[in-house]
Amino acid sequence: MSPLRAICPAKVNLGLHVVGKRRDGYHEIVTIFQAIDLYDVLDGEDAEALTLEVSNPSIPAGESNLVVKAARLLQARCEPARVRGARLRLDKAIPAGAGLGGGSSDAAGALMLLNELWDLHLDSATVEGFAAELGSDVPFFLFGGTALGTGRGATIEPLPPMADRVVLLGSPPFGLSTPEVYRALEAPLTADGADVTVPRLFVKFAKGNDFALARNDLEAVAFRSRGELAVFRDAVSRSGAEVALVSGSGSTVFGLFRTGTDVISRAEGLRGEFPGWTVRVCQTVASGVRIVPAVE
Ligand code: C5P
Repeated sequence: MSPLRAICPAKVNLGLHVVGKRRDGYHEIVTIFQAIDLYDVLDGEDAEALTLEVSNPSIPAGESNLVVKAARLLQARCEPARVRGARLRLDKAIPAGAGLGGGSSDAAGALMLLNELWDLHLDSATVEGFAAELGSDVPFFLFGGTALGTGRGATIEPLPPMADRVVLLGSPPFGLSTPEVYRALEAPLTADGADVTVPRLFVKFAKGNDFALARNDLEAVAFRSRGELAVFRDAVSRSGAEVALVSGSGSTVFGLFRTGTDVISRAEGLRGEFPGWTVRVCQTVASGVRIVPAVE
């Protein structure tokens, strides 16, 4: 099989409501995921052994990397006659610990790439099951576009694509740890006793591009540990964003703008005000991970 490439997008959460604590220790959430055009690129070709090389030396390339975990999961669960090794190379553009789902998207990319490279012929339900085992955000990237995430975030219902928007991303020079942010959340109701009226309304409104109820329940935790995130979010709100929120468990703050807004000059202004932050201007996209032939 010739070398393949997985193009792995980032996401933002257009609101994240925590509705309760589950018996398995995870939190029950209602969120809308939105894919954006910031991409990691994973290349893979046949090889005897499984190896991973990562462009960014600060990201571990060993067994703890979700790409390697995805490959090991396939090796353990698929027909032994089919699974092999692979030479994998990951070119990172999505910052880590940023709430943009980079590691999760890479894991979805590895599952899809190796399914083809190794001719596994796994059906989509099986790939989705493996994705959910690898992490709560991984299944979304098999769909991409705009999608509702419920349960621990791994139950995905694709939604009609949102109207095209420009997304301004502000990533501070530090990441936040998802387990730590969830741990610091004030103990919510158990999932059984939770009231889902507001999250349901949030989804209903958001499907009509009305983000009045878009909030992120993890934001307060992120703001408590890093006050500058709230300062940045307020600056994005003031610059005319329809929604300005922390994405996922942070550390990225994003603003959603109607196309045609002069986001480039607003981004320039924010770069001046917040030295050390990386401010990017992206677009919403309708796809998830895509597999294409690798180009040399
Ligand atoms: O699923 P994933 O491995 O990405 O989750 C990382 C950690 O974040 C979990 O171990 C858990 O502590 C926390 N988490 C949670 N509720 C969720 C998703 C993640 O408590 N819905």
